[in-house]
Amino acid sequence: MEKPPRPGSLIRQHPPHERGGRLILLGILSSIVFLMGVIFRETADISSVLVKYKEELCLFYYASVNRLQTLHLPRMRSIWLTALTFCAAVLSQSVTIDQYIDSESSIAKVGVLANIGPSGAKSSGAKAGVVIASPSTSDPDYLYTWTRDSALVYKMLIDQYTLGEDISSSLRGNIDNYVSAQTILQQVSNPSGTVSTGGLGEPKFNIDLTAFTASWGRPQRDGPPLRAISLITYANWLIANSNTTYVTGKVWPVIKLDLDYTAKHWNQSGFDLWEEVSSRSFFTTAVQHRALRQGAALATKIGQNSLVVGYSAQADNILCFLQSYWSSTGNYITSNTGGGRSGKDANSVLASIHSFDAAAGCDSRTFQPCSDKALANHKAYVDAFRSIYTINSGIAANKAVATGRYPEDVYYGGQAWYLTTAAAAEQLYDALIVWKAQGSLQVTSTSLAFFRQFSSSIQTGTYASSTSTFATLTAAIKEYADGFILVNAKYTPSNGALAEQYHRNTGVPLSAKDLTWSYASTLTAFASRKGFIPASWGAKDLVVPSVCVSNQLPMVPVTFTVVASTVWGESIYLTGSIDELKNWSPTDALILSSTSYPTWSITVNVPVSTKFDYKFLRKANGVVSTWESDPNRFFQSPASGNSVLSDTWR
Ligand code: NOJ
Ligand code: NOJ
Repeated sequence: MEKPPRPGSLIRQHPPHERGGRLILLGILSSIVFLMGVIFRETADISSVLVKYKEELCLFYYASVNRLQTLHLPRMRSIWLTALTFCAAVLSQSVTIDQYIDSESSIAKVGVLANIGPSGAKSSGAKAGVVIASPSTSDPDYLYTWTRDSALVYKMLIDQYTLGEDISSSLRGNIDNYVSAQTILQQVSNPSGTVSTGGLGEPKFNIDLTAFTASWGRPQRDGPPLRAISLITYANWLIANSNTTYVTGKVWPVIKLDLDYTAKHWNQSGFDLWEEVSSRSFFTTAVQHRALRQGAALATKIGQNSLVVGYSAQADNILCFLQSYWSSTGNYITSNTGGGRSGKDANSVLASIHSFDAAAGCDSRTFQPCSDKALANHKAYVDAFRSIYTINSGIAANKAVATGRYPEDVYYGGQAWYLTTAAAAEQLYDALIVWKAQGSLQVTSTSLAFFRQFSSSIQTGTYASSTSTFATLTAAIKEYADGFILVNAKYTPSNGALAEQYHRNTGVPLSAKDLTWSYASTLTAFASRKGFIPASWGAKDLVVPSVCVSNQLPMVPVTFTVVASTVWGESIYLTGSIDELKNWSPTDALILSSTSYPTWSITVNVPVSTKFDYKFLRKANGVVSTWESDPNRFFQSPASGNSVLSDTWR
């Protein structure tokens, strides 16, 4: 399997001779900047001209900040960091929430539009309707279009258009460009396959709509459902506004391909939204569920009845699987099934806000923002960043802090992210919308610790909006949510530009500049704070099947035979890399029959066209005695028909 480039290894790539030159340069630069910092601090507020000058110089200095990650000399590093802190202080904003929203709203909108082709100010070369992730072309090179980022950005724009926030014809044209661009992109053959063999799982493309062919963490299975969600939202609005022809002719064909892909592949592993872990991922599962649920409703609406049963059945299966990410011992959502981390991850907070359906109330089956599980998870996630970032030190345990992707992150040194901190605010704004609408809020044993942050003596129970407890809690939670926005505000340079990350010790922006997703996430958080309610997607009153169907692919029988002599009390077992072979569990391994001794055999139904590894093992009186020697055995099941494998114990 191809892996994404490891951030650490990328950094240490430079040949030694180059590195020496660079370091001397860095040394000189950082000393200058250090002095600059001292001077600026002394001369702060002398005049606005000077302030402007300082800003320009500091912005110039920022251009080199990503290099900080490459610096392995501890002394130089700390001088550099000190200087950066001065710059951060010069550039950061001390504003009220209203001031920040006032100024940042338009900056963020301009920022988004600048990154969309064909005429975006910072995206020359991008085809019409193509979102670049960021204009940054090196360290990191983000001048590509990601299916995930693009879908989330357009979901924001489509919501703005359909909810009446921006009804300009230029925005309408822009959204139609997205539809056209995705129609082309879906057909581009790429390293994940063709349109019909898995190519829709390709995470990113060149901005001229050609395939990106270098190695990467692929496939990523959240792209197709996210794109479907955006386009279904648009399609529903178009139908309600008498443009069904455009929907059936142009939008639906794109949606259908994404839904078919999702219905077929949801149960296979893929890389998570951070492109690092290949396993099953909460965010991916959540958006797959939502897309098929909404897709079934749209299919019904436009008379595509034959598809409805299939989409709905898979949506039920996914909803069932979705529940398995909840850790009742940890009281939070474990974001990935693989990866060996705590599982506390912005993945789950993003999943919750992108699953928001005000009509579903505080439903925990779909992890609605105000559900007890999502609130408990919010606390676990935010708390994971309190002690690991210096910029969070000294902040009370019930006040907002900067957050990042996940606490174990090392990408660019594992810094704070604007979009994750904004998401922490947005979840709470969403929750407030629902509590107000339903006129009460509920504290359960699951969410008790979350609510105790705001009232240390609160007990479980339901509090009506007429009670003072409701008033106190909602006011405190609103202030808490605003706190996350204000943390981002504090580390937003005064020109309002939002990069991908800001430094965990200094607050200095770093990694990709002008990240489109940073701007979009800021705008969606602001919209939720204002009480904007995105269209419902059908999350209300869903029933979780009592038995999860884990694999929806058709099955084919495979007969495993192995010639093996055994002693009395000994039997031969089989295990392997797929569910049907018990995922390498020696305990659950399948016992073979000895009817044709010394040939042992078993027939197992496995999913069609699936690659897997397997091995035989011996157990003496139920206890594992020996495994076969390496390497693992390998088989790919056929698309149909019986297979018989004839092995000899080794
Ligand atoms: C690793 C990062 O964590 C991931 O998010 C990024 O997309 C890839 N490297 C490529 O830069
Ligand atoms: C890295 C992030 O981890 C990933 O989620 C994103 O899609 C790309 N950068 C592009 O913004």
